[in-house]
Amino acid sequence: MLRVAVMLALLATPALAQVTADTANPLAGNADAIEAGHGLFGKMNCAGCHAYDLTGGMGPDLTDGSWQYGSKPGEIYHTIAEGTPRGMPAWKDKLTGDEIWQLVAYIVSKKQ
Ligand code: HEC
Repeated sequence: MLRVAVMLALLATPALAQVTADTANPLAGNADAIEAGHGLFGKMNCAGCHAYDLTGGMGPDLTDGSWQYGSKPGEIYHTIAEGTPRGMPAWKDKLTGDEIWQLVAYIVSKKQ
């Protein structure tokens, strides 16, 4: 069991560690990825806190120009993967790297 856990940790960690603030979204502007991100936004209940139109509720508006944790795709990726101290859950154990990039592509496509 321990060996499996170590292997999973080894598999999971590098992908996240490789994403820096300046990493470009490999799926940016990809219509299929944006659509998949749209689906995940509802399925994972991001919409429950950020609203279906992303204008916010319990969580902040994701369409305005203001970003607490950075507006670069790599920064948004990290916010989603790792969460924040004030109420944004971490998703890295529930979503793959590709799925997080799909969400980033969707959110960026909605920016005003
Ligand atoms: C339980 C409620 C909740 C859920 C579910 C949730 N969020 Fe959040 N989110 C928040 C809160 C609250 C903040 C602000 C956190 C802070 O100020 O530290 C936030 C912040 C963010 C930010 C950073 C905004 C900024 O200004 O930098 C992004 C991006 C984001 N959420 C995306 C998502 C995505 C994508 C999902 C679904 C995978 C999601 N959130 C699910 C509550 C939630």
